Amino acid sequence: MERLQKVIANSGYCSRRKAEELINLGKVKVNGEVVNTLGVKVSYSDTITVNGVTLKKEAKEYVLLYKPRGVVSSAHDEKGRKTVTDIVDSPNRLYPVGRLDYDTSGLILLTNDGELTNLLIHPSHEVEKKYLVKIDAVIDPSLVKALEKGVMIDGKKTGKARVKIKKIDKKKKCSLIELTIYEGRNHQVKKMFEAIGYKVAKLKREKFAGFTLDGLKSGEYRHLNIKEVKKLYAACKNVK
Ligand code: URA
Repeated sequence: MERLQKVIANSGYCSRRKAEELINLGKVKVNGEVVNTLGVKVSYSDTITVNGVTLKKEAKEYVLLYKPRGVVSSAHDEKGRKTVTDIVDSPNRLYPVGRLDYDTSGLILLTNDGELTNLLIHPSHEVEKKYLVKIDAVIDPSLVKALEKGVMIDGKKTGKARVKIKKIDKKKKCSLIELTIYEGRNHQVKKMFEAIGYKVAKLKREKFAGFTLDGLKSGEYRHLNIKEVKKLYAACKNVK
């Protein structure tokens, strides 16, 4: 569910402010009924009419992108840096599902399906995210394993996590660790390692909601088919 003015603006009909004006003026109908108060939430399957024009329901599009480092995971960037939507060629307004840091590479989904986005990022749905973490140090395995028990970040203990130590290179003084988490807090992986005294040197998301980067090189993307979209919805409904 999304605020009516946001759905109108997302359709490209007008700005959000203009949509609010039109709602206040009684020019907007939802499923044939006038809605003239702000704050009403609608779903993307509702039929919305503005000034007698029914908004076209955009075809839904689902893209799996291998985000390179040095790209912003939002639709626009105030600093004019390259964004994930600059990479994906689409007639639709696509939005990333969650965020990856500017210096993080890996799997990110983009879609115009607001309902699926909300399901995937809702913490109660515990969608699986697997990261490959490089640390420029010889790590202490027991310290890193302790991440599974939870650490305090931003005053709150982290939830379920799985750690697999892939490599400890004493000569090159670096380590590779696989970390799987089910939350999506801000800079979560970097903060988890910070909490045990390590700085993340490189971070890549290798898996999200059961999907991997198989067959893609950095900067490449592919569209998901219907079966895969159903799998994404199922990944959210499995839980609690
Ligand atoms: N955790 C981080 O710290 N950064 C990301 O980009 C993703 C997860």
